[in-house]
Amino acid sequence: MPSTIFGAGRRRARYGFDAPGIMLKLLAAGASGLAVGAGLFLLAEGRLVLLAGVLVAASLVPLCLGLSMLVYGLLGKHRVRDHMIGLIAWRGDEQVLDIGTGRGLLLIGAAKRLGRRGQATGIDVWRSEDLSDNSLDRLAENVGLEGVEDNVALLTQDARQLSFPDASFDVVLSLFCIHNIESKAEQRQACREIARVLKPGGRVLVGEWLPTHAYAEAFREAGLRVNASRSHFLTALALMWMVDAEKPRVPAGT
Ligand SMILES: C[S@@+](CC[C@H](N)C(=O)[O-])C[C@H]1O[C@@H](n2cnc3c(N)ncnc32)[C@H](O)[C@@H]1O
Repeated sequence: MPSTIFGAGRRRARYGFDAPGIMLKLLAAGASGLAVGAGLFLLAEGRLVLLAGVLVAASLVPLCLGLSMLVYGLLGKHRVRDHMIGLIAWRGDEQVLDIGTGRGLLLIGAAKRLGRRGQATGIDVWRSEDLSDNSLDRLAENVGLEGVEDNVALLTQDARQLSFPDASFDVVLSLFCIHNIESKAEQRQACREIARVLKPGGRVLVGEWLPTHAYAEAFREAGLRVNASRSHFLTALALMWMVDAEKPRVPAGT
């Protein structure tokens, strides 16, 4: 009997691990420090026991951070996607933009909520250090596996300079992308671009591992109304903040 009847052998879309190099370094540093510290603790005497205790305690910091990145990649990112997608009251005809889509976590989540008249566009510059196995090919494969080809457009494009006309999108999403832009001024530029391409009445959700208050401020300066900018640690099971904002239908001050 074909294995596909039971679903066995059917490949699933996978969305990768964020910053895989940093995650592996944290896990390796934490685990080796813990092993050396524990060994020293068992074998040593006198002051060396104190040193072993300090080493064990210090190793717990990178170990916990690495483990939280691992748990986020295995579990948390699916919870965050479901939370973010669930915040939008979908009609099905929306134009959606996912900035720094990577392997399509939010893009595909949004595309599944769209009908024939809706479209989700994913843009990225495919940096390998930001996401494991990060490429346009891997994203296209996930789009195919999830069966959303008809509602999706994929483009190589930088968040700082979007090619879309003003007021193109009903929903703009972005997860763990904008902090990868090194300069704060250019991060603000990416926020201004988001505000520019958002339609009046449109909604933006930007998730990050650091507090999102500076993005909230940039959105306010660009005329958006900020609904919230707060931690979502319990959803992500890792460090995460999100700013939720919308573009007023009537510009502020008129
Ligand atoms: C940590 S990954 C997150 C990917 C996806 N949003 C997710 O949550 O699975 C960050 C993504 O942002 C992309 N990125 C980094 N700088 C960018 C830029 N200036 N413009 C567009 N994408 C960028 C990276 O290539 C990477 O795919």
